Amino acid sequence: MDSKVCVVGLGYVGLPLAALCAIKGHGVTGLDTNQFAVDKINQGLAHIKDVEVERLVKAGYLTGRLKATTDVNRVASSTIYLICVPTPVDENHDPDLLPLYSAVDAIAPFLKKKIWSLSNPLFFLGHVSKR
Ligand SMILES: NC(=O)c1ccc[n+]([C@@H]2O[C@H](COP(=O)([O-])OP(=O)(O)OC[C@H]3O[C@@H](n4cnc5c(N)ncnc54)[C@H](O)[C@@H]3O)[C@@H](O)[C@H]2O)c1
Repeated sequence: MDSKVCVVGLGYVGLPLAALCAIKGHGVTGLDTNQFAVDKINQGLAHIKDVEVERLVKAGYLTGRLKATTDVNRVASSTIYLICVPTPVDENHDPDLLPLYSAVDAIAPFLKKKIWSLSNPLFFLGHVSKR
């Protein structure tokens, strides 16, 4: 496959998703701000304590198609962007969208018309496109 997938945010949602995409044959670069997480993934290890996630990351790593980085320039040529950053809610149950805005701003220079960009369904409709 020639699609280049970028998963932004390699946590409980993004990390197994990135690993599965690699296992299914896609070249995947995960982008995260957490250098510790990135270093672990690039050794075939998960920074998340979950047996199934650990298994998937190891399998994805062994394909040679799963990479992780903190450098946004390394995902410039991706054709699909999957945004999986956190949206913690405050005491009024309003989500903090700063991580989402930060992620969108980081990849925005690379977005072209034919690029797929998907974000988490829990985000309010329109937030990413308005950005
Ligand atoms: N965990 C779940 O069971 C679950 C279920 C449904 C929906 N969600 C939603 O999925 C989204 C992700 O949740 P999660 O549990 O994977 O979060 P998480 O906290 O486990 O992981 C988020 C990752 O994003 C990284 N990150 C934060 N800001 C970033 C940025 N600007 N650029 C790149 N990386 C950044 C963090 O370092 C972290 O590794 C949230 O919106 C959450 O509401 C989660």
